[in-house]
Amino acid sequence: MPGDTLTREHVLGNVDEIPVGEGRNFEVAGRTVAVFRNHAGEVFASQADCPHLGGPLADGMLGGSTIMCPLHDRMFDLRTGSVLVGECGITVYPIRKAEDGTLLLSLDG
Ligand code: FES
Repeated sequence: MPGDTLTREHVLGNVDEIPVGEGRNFEVAGRTVAVFRNHAGEVFASQADCPHLGGPLADGMLGGSTIMCPLHDRMFDLRTGSVLVGECGITVYPIRKAEDGTLLLSLDG
């Protein structure tokens, strides 16, 4: 199908659905994605489940661009997906906020 090789953006909703300093899960294209909104107004998106034992990253403690899993304190960089405390990193997804607050996510990287 034409366009299959292009990066596609999925509309998730509005940034106002995520309280400042928190994360929320969104279902997109059969996948659950955790989306975070920090106090600086930046947004980040990552896999929803912690790679350690599946903890809900959206319920973790957000600090700037890092997220700490609520279960056993593994910590990840949401800009790169790299692990800061723990054994392995996480998948992160490009996300942007349109002028009207609409969140647009790419699953293709
Ligand atoms: S499940 Fe996330 S640190 Fe254990």
